[in-house]
Amino acid sequence: MRALTLTALLCLVAAGAAQSHDLYLGHILYRDVPLYTINEYKYGFPLIVRTSIIEYPEAGIKNFAYITAIVVKDHYTDGNGGFPAVVAGGVGQRFAKIKLKSQRSHGFNFTVTIFGRY
Ligand SMILES: *[C@@H]1O[C@H](CO)[C@@H](O)[C@H](O)[C@H]1NC(C)=O
Repeated sequence: MRALTLTALLCLVAAGAAQSHDLYLGHILYRDVPLYTINEYKYGFPLIVRTSIIEYPEAGIKNFAYITAIVVKDHYTDGNGGFPAVVAGGVGQRFAKIKLKSQRSHGFNFTVTIFGRY
């Protein structure tokens, strides 16, 4: 039930924001839980490319859950938002490193949610 609701929600989000650079990796099943969520934004500066690295788990924290899905929602709907990429770890592993990169002269605003299973 919860998985269905979530899937329906993700479909709505995907359909409503065709210009956004969302990233959906893996599958969210009923026993998976959100392990970590963060909203990360940076303002744009002329000619500058802004980047952020999101790391799960945070430094010094031991994680016992396997990652089953990674959802990165781009809150820019005009196509000027940044691009997300998993640069280490990810689905099937216990850690993930996600790079958020803006377009030149633009900022970004992403919500990263990592789902997993103990
Ligand atoms: C980022 O997007 C969220 C969701 O749309 C919004 O609530 C928030 O105000 C935005 N942050 C900035 C700095 O624009």
